[in-house]
Amino acid sequence: MKKYCFNIISAVIVLIITIPCLTWAEGESCVKCHEKVTPLLVKDWKASEHSGNDVTCSSCHGSSHNKKANVGLAKMPTETTCAECHQEQFDQFAKGKHNMGWTSMNALPVTHMEPDEFMEGGKGCGGCHNMGIKTEAQKKELRDKGYTYRTNSCDECHTRHTFSKKEAQDPKACQTCHMGFDHPQYEMYESSKHGVRYHLKETGRLPEDAAAPTCQTCHLPKGIHTNKVAWGFLGVKLPLPNDKQWAADQTTILKALGVLSPDGKPTGRLDIVKAADMARLTAKDWTVERKKMIKICSQCHSGKYAKKELDKGDLIIKKADRLMAEAINIVADLYKAGALKKPAHYSYAYPDFLHFYQTGGSHIEQVLFKMYMKHRMRTYQGVFHANPDYAYWYGWAAMVKDLDQVKQMAKCLRAKTAAK
Ligand code: HEC
Ligand code: HEC
Ligand code: HEC
Ligand code: HEC
Ligand code: HEC
Ligand code: HEC
Ligand code: HEC
Ligand code: HEC
Repeated sequence: MKKYCFNIISAVIVLIITIPCLTWAEGESCVKCHEKVTPLLVKDWKASEHSGNDVTCSSCHGSSHNKKANVGLAKMPTETTCAECHQEQFDQFAKGKHNMGWTSMNALPVTHMEPDEFMEGGKGCGGCHNMGIKTEAQKKELRDKGYTYRTNSCDECHTRHTFSKKEAQDPKACQTCHMGFDHPQYEMYESSKHGVRYHLKETGRLPEDAAAPTCQTCHLPKGIHTNKVAWGFLGVKLPLPNDKQWAADQTTILKALGVLSPDGKPTGRLDIVKAADMARLTAKDWTVERKKMIKICSQCHSGKYAKKELDKGDLIIKKADRLMAEAINIVADLYKAGALKKPAHYSYAYPDFLHFYQTGGSHIEQVLFKMYMKHRMRTYQGVFHANPDYAYWYGWAAMVKDLDQVKQMAKCLRAKTAAK
């Protein structure tokens, strides 16, 4: 009896000693070796909230890889890995537009005509569009092409391995993607009164609690990870506006997006636009988002003021569409008159904005593309982001100049054809 008791006691003692040792050894092995292999990465992790909360390397990468010879066994964490502990943010993210990034990129015909290094390799479209929980089919496609990284969207705003909330709260967290050619929201924001006030708060010239909205205040309010606005990127919506001319102009743009055929019938692309939620397709969808935004502005401005400011954005889209449609129609008529040849990769003898810059297109088509993708974007995005210079000089004024060029070039092309 005595001996039996002794055995149980010693067994318990052995367990008490070995269990922590085993876990210590596992945690320590990753960190210890990686302190030599990737020392500053480990330092980053040590600075994170994770390290103080027992979230170790193996919590995210698994524990199958444990030496140099089996690096291939390290798992790359997807959004689902983060969801194990952050279900709320995962669910919010899943309902937002960021979750559509990879899908919308792949929906474009141009994507499959460009080098993979810009897509799967992430040094181009894919660098910004690595947003969204990938489907099994999408994951398989990546694996088949031999790409193992960029499997996570959560580290796009709070980057690895600090995973810092403070970083994600700063407008800089959005800059890498929301900048440049067709969506310079960062530049527009930074030099708007909103951004200037934020900057002055940071440098201590304005009091710490001075009102200054960030991208996050307006687009991820209260830390909710669901992002969506009324108009969106393409600046088209359904149902068409009541104003007859504007409805006709939006229809012309929908044709140039290839969503409608030149004779106005819905094409397969409409389904793609629907699937990736690229435009609000009911009046309700649009109004819900607009109302949310006015409520956000109303924390600092009167609701009436905010509504009027946003109405200006809608009205400038209407006016920009007039210029845009005129230019599209001029080019479309050139195809009809035989003064311009249909590029081989176009479905129709009609401008196609979703093909971007491709060889085989003509200069007039490139000016038209830039007018839509760069200058029309800047015109209305500038108004929505309270940036006078982007809205006028980089937007509207450039559109007027584009239209002029299109007219001149069309004249030459027609003259050349007549002389043949
Ligand atoms: C004995 C050393 C050692 C141990 C222990 C170790 N690693 Fe590594 N690990 C390496 C080396 C070496 C590399 C390759 C680095 C390179 O490519 O420059 C690596 C690479 C990695 C990678 C990147 C893989 C890739 O495809 O780029 C991850 C993730 C990783 N380790 C996680 C872990 C985790 C998690 C543990 C613990 C369960 C761990 N490591 C334990 C040495 C180690
Ligand atoms: C909270 C989750 C999390 C923890 C904890 C974590 N990682 Fe990572 N790690 C990631 C994510 C996300 C990626 C990027 C995955 C991708 O690009 O597909 C990554 C990528 C890596 C890479 C390859 C990419 C690169 O930048 O070199 C290495 C190496 C790595 N981790 C090592 C470690 C080590 C070592 C630890 C522990 C000190 C650790 N990780 C802890 C989430 C984590
Ligand atoms: C095993 C559980 C676990 C996993 C897996 C995990 N986290 Fe965490 N995370 C935590 C805990 C615990 C904290 C600290 C307490 C808190 O804020 O909830 C934390 C905090 C955070 C924070 C806030 C940090 C701050 O500065 O306040 C961010 C951001 C974060 N995690 C992102 C991620 C991302 C992204 C992933 C996936 C790559 C991930 N986490 C995976 C448990 C986890
Ligand atoms: C610098 C980062 C970046 C690059 C590079 C980039 N995009 Fe984007 N893309 C974005 C952002 C940000 C948006 C959303 C802009 C907005 O709503 O104003 C976007 C919007 C889109 C949309 C519309 C999505 C929607 O729902 O309306 C498509 C489609 C798209 N991009 C495809 C591409 C393709 C294809 C490429 C490469 C030829 C590319 N993008 C290159 C960042 C980028
Ligand atoms: C003061 C609020 C506010 C701030 C700050 C703000 N935005 Fe916006 N944003 C808007 C409004 C309003 C719209 C248009 C909404 C609509 O369609 O009704 C918009 C639209 C967008 C769109 C869709 C396309 C477009 O430009 O119209 C993107 C993308 C975007 N914002 C990103 C950003 C980023 C990134 C930042 C920070 C660099 C930022 N925004 C700062 C209010 C804001
Ligand atoms: C578009 C940028 C962006 C992306 C992508 C993103 N986050 Fe965040 N995240 C933020 C912002 C901004 C905050 C700070 C919210 C706040 O102010 O409370 C944050 C905060 C967090 C926190 C800390 C919450 C708290 O209150 O302590 C966690 C956890 C987190 N995110 C997890 C995730 C996960 C998981 C994903 C991927 C499914 C993800 N995030 C993707 C911007 C982002
Ligand atoms: C890794 C790149 C990346 C980062 C970082 C990023 N975004 Fe985006 N964002 C995108 C892409 C890509 C899209 C277009 C998604 C799609 O195809 O629908 C987008 C779309 C948006 C939209 C447009 C929603 C709509 O309805 O059309 C808003 C608003 C937005 N992002 C806000 C932000 C804010 C705010 C931040 C910073 C906290 C941020 N994003 C950080 C890539 C990024
Ligand atoms: C966190 C507070 C805050 C939020 C939210 C906010 N603003 Fe502002 N906004 C300000 C402040 C402060 C100024 C500077 C006022 C001035 O110029 O005297 C400003 C300036 C402006 C300006 C520049 C014109 C002017 O009078 O100088 C416009 C336009 C504007 N806001 C529109 C909006 C719209 C539209 C929204 C919502 C999409 C919004 N703001 C959200 C605080 C805010």
